[in-house]
Amino acid sequence: MEKAVKRIGVLTSGGDAPGMNAAVRAVTRTAISRGVECIGIRRGWNGLINGDFIQMDASSVSHIIHKGGTILYTARSEEFKTAPGREKALGTCKLLGLDGIVAVGGDGTFRGALALSRQAAEHGQSLQVVGIPATIDNDIGCSHYTIGFDTACNTAVECIDKLRDTMQSHERCSVVEVMGRHAGYLALYVGISVGATAVLIPERPVDFQRDIVEAIRKARLAGVTHFMIVVAEGAGSAVDIGKRIHDEIGIDPRVTVLGHIQRGGSPSSRDRETASRMGYHAVMSLVANKGNRVIATQEGRVVDIDMEEALAMTKPFQMDRYDVLEALSLH
Ligand code: F6P
Repeated sequence: MEKAVKRIGVLTSGGDAPGMNAAVRAVTRTAISRGVECIGIRRGWNGLINGDFIQMDASSVSHIIHKGGTILYTARSEEFKTAPGREKALGTCKLLGLDGIVAVGGDGTFRGALALSRQAAEHGQSLQVVGIPATIDNDIGCSHYTIGFDTACNTAVECIDKLRDTMQSHERCSVVEVMGRHAGYLALYVGISVGATAVLIPERPVDFQRDIVEAIRKARLAGVTHFMIVVAEGAGSAVDIGKRIHDEIGIDPRVTVLGHIQRGGSPSSRDRETASRMGYHAVMSLVANKGNRVIATQEGRVVDIDMEEALAMTKPFQMDRYDVLEALSLH
């Protein structure tokens, strides 16, 4: 089959996620193995606007599969949201002879990619784009899984296990805020994994009396003397929850906001393996002349979906996991 692309760019955009490097490695090595040249665009879409790039070869991605962060750097670009910004980016594509872009990031990244390819088409410029979902939030509608989620869960669990030791010794209540933006996946998976007393997520309206006061009361009656409350950042502030616990229940909690520590660290096996398969699939899609795709996992399989359809997709929140959490907490 005739090669659809000759030279592609790969970039990482938005919040970094562990496993992005494994995806960049997979894209680079698959491209080279198929006779396609690969350019690394640095600092997300800003790099395409400013012509900030590096030539990639097979060895430029050696020894990065185990590294957190992204060797290409990342950014959230305001300029790229504008038509003149994308015009500059298209100029860079022309200059470099890029006919394909693989963008690793979240749905904001994919929206940018789609706008770019549409703008290219208006000028008769050939530019195929493919998105790879990578975010610790696991909040991409078309994909059951996003690169980085598993590592972030493991990092949060490790931190909370440490907190539990000191909470248990002092018979205290801990309120821990985890990331996730508007989604509660991270909080719920972590909450189940640490055996939390209660988990607050944005997908379930918070009722302080039911979710906190009752949960602590039941745990106390069951003989528990330390409590672990996990709060998704999208469900509220751990500081505010801690204050309410102090004022309304009369116990003196300790509040921890895990913050960006959840985005760092060496990617888990699951994230490396998923990123490798997605990166491979992204390039194979371009080589097969299939552009404007988002790579996704569905029932464990890696698939590609039309980008516009992918951006309109939503996934039902896994509320059955909340039932598991409740069933396993002490009553
Ligand atoms: O989307 C990833 C994420 O870490 C969210 O969980 C969080 O809300 C946000 O990014 C933080 O963004 P920033 O790195 O700009 O502080």
